Amino acid sequence: MLSYKHIFHAGNHADVIKHLCWLSVITYLKNKDKPFTLFDTHAGAGQYALDSEHAQKNSEFKTGISTVIDSKFSSSLLQHYQDVCSGYWRQNLYPGSPLLAANALRSQDTLQVMELHPNEVVNLRQALKPYTHNRQAQVHHRDGLEGLQGLVPPASKRGAVLIDPPYEQKQEYNAVVSCVTTTLAKWRNAQIIIWFPLLTERARDKTGLSEQMVSDIVDLGFETLTVELLIGQKTSDVGMYGSGVCVVNPSWNLDQQLGQALDEFCQIAASSSSRVHWFNKQ
Ligand SMILES: C[S@@+](CC[C@H](N)C(=O)[O-])C[C@H]1O[C@@H](n2cnc3c(N)ncnc32)[C@H](O)[C@@H]1O
Repeated sequence: MLSYKHIFHAGNHADVIKHLCWLSVITYLKNKDKPFTLFDTHAGAGQYALDSEHAQKNSEFKTGISTVIDSKFSSSLLQHYQDVCSGYWRQNLYPGSPLLAANALRSQDTLQVMELHPNEVVNLRQALKPYTHNRQAQVHHRDGLEGLQGLVPPASKRGAVLIDPPYEQKQEYNAVVSCVTTTLAKWRNAQIIIWFPLLTERARDKTGLSEQMVSDIVDLGFETLTVELLIGQKTSDVGMYGSGVCVVNPSWNLDQQLGQALDEFCQIAASSSSRVHWFNKQ
């Protein structure tokens, strides 16, 4: 199907929670000199022009990055996110997950990204060009959930995976659970971030599928953290009332880092709140 285009949503509140989580996980991995590999199964176009007609259509970035860009924060994670985004913001751009990861790599680290859409992968290759010439970052034009299985575990056995599907089709929720199960069977200490939407009854047959997916992942028995950012009221005229990240094998300080960053974000973003849950905590 592939009708989803991230440009319509770039920099919105869902990108804020997802990208804060991604940056926190990557920053933690950098505490040791040992190399790591990052995997991004649904990479998108890499970067997004916020002054484009598509981004301006609903101006979703006004619920996210534009709230963050001019403030000062005591959360080091939120401040780091703002610092990374501000150079792009000055050019009317927003950096997607693969660029955030590529910017953070040290010489010993590597990045594997997958994107299935034929136009988005062209834009992605262009955006990642400074990082692909020496193969430090590699772009794969393929299904991300299948592709991941062929790439794990990385030689260093250290790293993290971001799974960020468009969830256009109902089957994608179960496909994520299967992918996480297979990945953990091959790489037990993989740190896996799964973004999910929080949907009202208006989403009809997709209502409740995120909650079921998270529950299935928790049932795998690994230490798992969920963090959610709720925007506005959960009323029947709203389809998505927020979103969350489900993190398997989270780095030890992720709940504090992300919790503090979202607390501060919620002080400046209208009608928002956040919540954190632990499962199978050891
Ligand atoms: C939510 S967007 C990704 C945004 C990106 N992760 C970010 O945070 O900047 C989802 C992307 O997945 C792509 N996609 C859809 N199905 C896919 C699949 N089976 N494998 C890989 N990519 C897919 C879409 O074309 C779209 O670009």
